[in-house]
Amino acid sequence: MLKVYRGELLHFLADPDKVPLSESYQYFADGVMIIKNGLVEQVGEASELLAQLDENVALIHYQNGLIMPGFIDTHVHYPQTEMIASYGEQLLEWLENYTFPFERQFADFEHGKNVAEFFLNQLLAAGTTTALVFGTVHKASVDAFFTVAQQKNLRMICGKVLMDRNCPDYLSDTAQSGYEDSKALIEKWHNTERLQYAITPRFAPTSSTEQLNKAGQLLAEYPGVYLHTHLSENKAEIAWVKELFPERDGYLDVYDNSKLLGRRSVFAHGVHLHDNECQRLATTSSAIAFCPSSNLFLGSGLFNLQQAKAFNINVGLGSDIGAGTTFSMLSTINEGYKTQQLRQEKLSPFQSFYLATLGGAKALDLEGTIGNFVKGAEADFVLLDYQATPLMARRMQHCQTLTEKLFILSMLGDERHVKATHIMGERVEPEPSNDLGND
Ligand code: GUN
Ligand code: ZN
Repeated sequence: MLKVYRGELLHFLADPDKVPLSESYQYFADGVMIIKNGLVEQVGEASELLAQLDENVALIHYQNGLIMPGFIDTHVHYPQTEMIASYGEQLLEWLENYTFPFERQFADFEHGKNVAEFFLNQLLAAGTTTALVFGTVHKASVDAFFTVAQQKNLRMICGKVLMDRNCPDYLSDTAQSGYEDSKALIEKWHNTERLQYAITPRFAPTSSTEQLNKAGQLLAEYPGVYLHTHLSENKAEIAWVKELFPERDGYLDVYDNSKLLGRRSVFAHGVHLHDNECQRLATTSSAIAFCPSSNLFLGSGLFNLQQAKAFNINVGLGSDIGAGTTFSMLSTINEGYKTQQLRQEKLSPFQSFYLATLGGAKALDLEGTIGNFVKGAEADFVLLDYQATPLMARRMQHCQTLTEKLFILSMLGDERHVKATHIMGERVEPEPSNDLGND
């Protein structure tokens, strides 16, 4: 079945920092995207493509907006949705005081489903169509998440947290039970329709070496499964890792020693990395999720994007809800821009929209599947509305170039500017998302 969308259209073909800018993207002021059975068939100029089409084909014309690939959130915690904006602490105290008690509730499958439904509706309202998602230690939290994601036909990656020490008893698994529960979830969900599994040790301090080794064993047993964890986010955390693993040569080496690095390994934050760690991440094709709103909220530090790019590390953007303060990738870009300003660096509009789309897809090893409009890609896309707020509409009147438009979209934009989200070519109807689940 063919579906055709017409409108202003932008997508990336390569990293704008790595090839001449004009080769890094395709832009059509009046473009057309032809979708066949949910996959992109072709994009191009309306004047060229419309002539080839049967005049009875279903055509949707979006005016005064920008069609882009759906955003990709490479690090987020769905169970932390209801504890977003918890006051006053940095990472380790924030985990103890707020996060762990909240995560306890996810032993209950129905609670997980209720929060997953709300969370995924928030993502879709923000134009995010794929995310790499933490569950909790409970197997039921992942069953609940995937059940809802499957109903919505979304490409989502999730995993059960592994955590066998330095955490409350009510959130603790063991090396063996974590291994078995993860295995059962992989067998049940990995590559079920659009769903994929991530082996998810919370971070080095909450896993024994035995548990990390078992995570490495699972990765080897199931090629194609992801590894998702946190790395070098906060200085006190890094000092703690040093104490817990004195025999290892730094934080990343703890993971490396358990064979957790690789093309489908995603490390959130990496705010305080040494050059040798960057080199190792690059050599193993591991990725970093840059989470600026979280890094600023928890006072973790200013991610060194230049360093990561200089080493050719795959980088995506992450909201890191509930330490992050927004679901919106537009707002996340805004925070990322300011983070780089504080480092005396510039995050260009092309680079930031690349990171939110194709860069995220590359970080997740899903290039060709999501993140741009190459032939055969899954047609998950958004329509961004320049007129959604009076301020942006006014500002856009004084805007000459695509660079300026993108910059303004990201500095003034948020969920209000996501006019529509599409999954496999189908427009998603907005949900009221106001069920508090208290009945
Ligand atoms: N490090 C270990 N667990 C977490 C978490 O839940 N959020 C963040 N931001 N960092 C972590
Ligand atoms: Zn996180």
